[in-house]
Amino acid sequence: MLRDKRILLIVGGGIAAFKCLDLIRRLRERGAAVRCVLTESAAKFVTPLSLQALSEDRVYGDMFSLTDESEMGHIQLSRQADLLVVAPATANLLARMAGGMADDLAATVLLATDKPVLAAPAMNVRMWLHPATQANVGLLGARGTMFVGPNAGAMACNEHGPGRMAEPLEIVAAIESIFAGKLTAGPPQARLAGPDTIELPGTRSEGALTHRPLAGRKALVTSGPTREAIDPVRYISNHSSGKQGHAIARALAALGADVTLVSGPVAVADPPGVRVVRVESADQMLAACRDASPVDIAVCAAAVADWKVANTADAKLKKAPGAKPPAIDLVPNPDILATLSAPGPDRPALVIGFAAETENVVANAIAKRARKGCDWILANDVSPATGTFGGDDNTVHLVTTEGAEAWPPQSKDAVARELARRVAARFA
Ligand code: C5P
Repeated sequence: MLRDKRILLIVGGGIAAFKCLDLIRRLRERGAAVRCVLTESAAKFVTPLSLQALSEDRVYGDMFSLTDESEMGHIQLSRQADLLVVAPATANLLARMAGGMADDLAATVLLATDKPVLAAPAMNVRMWLHPATQANVGLLGARGTMFVGPNAGAMACNEHGPGRMAEPLEIVAAIESIFAGKLTAGPPQARLAGPDTIELPGTRSEGALTHRPLAGRKALVTSGPTREAIDPVRYISNHSSGKQGHAIARALAALGADVTLVSGPVAVADPPGVRVVRVESADQMLAACRDASPVDIAVCAAAVADWKVANTADAKLKKAPGAKPPAIDLVPNPDILATLSAPGPDRPALVIGFAAETENVVANAIAKRARKGCDWILANDVSPATGTFGGDDNTVHLVTTEGAEAWPPQSKDAVARELARRVAARFA
């Protein structure tokens, strides 16, 4: 979708400027041409040389450079672009945009352009919530500027709340939505928060995006392990942390989906803006999934125990001197993924499963996709050496009817965002 699109990236001077390097890489790998304009302070956070190397184009910064003006004036810079992206859009840059200033090349290009503008704000939470910034953002939104983010979360300044720049893949998704005609102008929702309502961690939906391609879609995500009772105090379970499933629920919600997360016992926090149903056993998980159905999207990320105890004791099993240990009979648990994937009027349009493998990852996942009847499988290597179980990173392959695609090693959050982006593209 971005092939041959020309993006003029205006980099403001904030700590989030480092994310622009990844943004450029993501845009370039999707076939877009990227040209960068740096403010003077941006050059203190990222070097023109890195931007130049990644964009494979020269970087512009100085309005009064004769070469720039003769070879590429500010009018030309915007004329030759399909879209202007301001990232990070600092409080200062937003103020200069709102005030119609033309005091450096970045502001001048933004004032002179007749092309769509997408801004990714990034600043301290109090600066973002300040009425001056909110007024500027409101004004810019009313004039047609589109926004992605800011996200709520921990900030470099040790505060918490809205102000983090959207992640590169979220910005890419917003750019794709603009070219698909789906992202409309307007300020982000986070501006509605007043200065007295700075959120505590997890109290507000992350990714206050005007870009909500999954709005109106219902999603069901399973996450975490299940516990299969042996008796009232003992159970069989596994090491699943729930990090990947919870991240997927959060990423789908950030793109506007109405998400129900059915989770086994985990230590990770509930994702903001998501309906969470807590369960213990596989039977309870299946019942909760049935209650949440019908849905458009189902993602089964839970590590459901394969077996449950056939002869669960009603009272605590006692050890008696000299007695043999009790025999535990196991019977298979219901397969939730296969159940949700079964054809029928309520089958979700898209069912995604996971395949945790320790060898022949892709081949086993292809076979599993067919066996379970789901549409996509995210396959990952969980051999102990990879540290996937309980860790923050994941290396996955996406297996679809079209084949298998290896994704680069990345955080579980990044895997979740990329998956949500793919889901949004599938429903576009
Ligand atoms: O069969 P296996 O456990 O390898 O399959 C993994 C996939 O199936 C995961 O998506 C997991 O959430 C799902 N699953 C399930 N119910 C089960 C077993 C696995 O939903 N009983």
